[in-house]
Amino acid sequence: MRLCEAAGLSGSDSAEYARTLLSALGPIGERPLELPAPDDSFLSDDHTPVEFSLALTPDGNPTLRVLIEPGCGAPGLAQNGRRGLRAVREMARRWGVDTSRLDDLEDLFFPPNPRGPLALWCALELVPGGVPRIKVYLNPAASGQERSADTVREALRRLGHRRAFASLPEGDRLLFFALDLGDWDEPRVKVYLAHHDLSAAEAADLSRVDGGPGPAEIASFFRLAAGHDIDGPESPEGRDQRLDRRPVQSCHAFTETASGRPSGFTLYIPVRDYARHDGESLDRAVAVLGRHGMDPDPLVRSLSAVTSRRLRDGVGLIAYVGLAHQEGRPRRVTTYISSEAYDVRPPALAAVSSPGRGASAGTPATRR
Ligand code: TRP
Repeated sequence: MRLCEAAGLSGSDSAEYARTLLSALGPIGERPLELPAPDDSFLSDDHTPVEFSLALTPDGNPTLRVLIEPGCGAPGLAQNGRRGLRAVREMARRWGVDTSRLDDLEDLFFPPNPRGPLALWCALELVPGGVPRIKVYLNPAASGQERSADTVREALRRLGHRRAFASLPEGDRLLFFALDLGDWDEPRVKVYLAHHDLSAAEAADLSRVDGGPGPAEIASFFRLAAGHDIDGPESPEGRDQRLDRRPVQSCHAFTETASGRPSGFTLYIPVRDYARHDGESLDRAVAVLGRHGMDPDPLVRSLSAVTSRRLRDGVGLIAYVGLAHQEGRPRRVTTYISSEAYDVRPPALAAVSSPGRGASAGTPATRR
């Protein structure tokens, strides 16, 4: 509720969304927080099956989103997926949303013996009016990591994006396959890739959007968010520093089938693994927002709405900072805010960056 209001939603929308969130979570929504986390959900570091995010634009109207795992606590991944599907279909029915694009993919992402770190996550964009926009996140490795490229290629094909897979950049692993459902101007199909040991220069080369964000913009975002090269432009060390802890992620969004190319690109920096504490993470997010002419106030207010702890007393409240480009729309900076319902990661003692240069090994997930 407080977070909704911090993001500018009315009192009645905030109350409605608080109810929506609880009902989407099912029995987990009622679980006392004194009990341990229901399972080892990969959705957040402390296994809370809820993560918030704030999308900021230069016009200053932030959008609050919430990512949930409706099947969290189910006995096994197959059940988790079934509960997730049921929850999504229930919400869709309630708001008159068509789920046929998801239904057409069920056999691909919900095999009888699924594997991997998730079965289904669902994100709600809490727009004014009390009816959220729905996004569904599926697991490319449901039938095994080795099949993930085939799974994603086939899912894209069924949705009419026959040439999309070939346009993806190299990546180390296919992480998520996501669908927008319902009342979107341009519903997207999104493919997420993980990139180990990535440098700013390599990140700058990942967008496949025609006329998308330039390499300089992406590299400068990377360095600001990662805390590299803060003191001077383009020091040799700053240029080559790689993020060698948690991988950077890229997202490629497809909205039309004619060109075979994505119309959206997002880069996500897992800032929590490269900062000592959340004060530092916030400074980085504020620097990124400043660079893009965006007001940091909604972010600062949102952080105090979810926690009363001091930012320097932990790291991970801000999980990721992202820079999103979608053709024909203003730039968005997205910040992912952990619930920390179960745990706060203690601050790191030393500076968290390394000038490692090791290239990642193994077969790129998108080149088979
Ligand atoms: N917790 C997972 C991770 O850190 C998945 C995840 C949650 C994620 N929110 C995200 C990934 C936002 C990218 C961006 O990878």
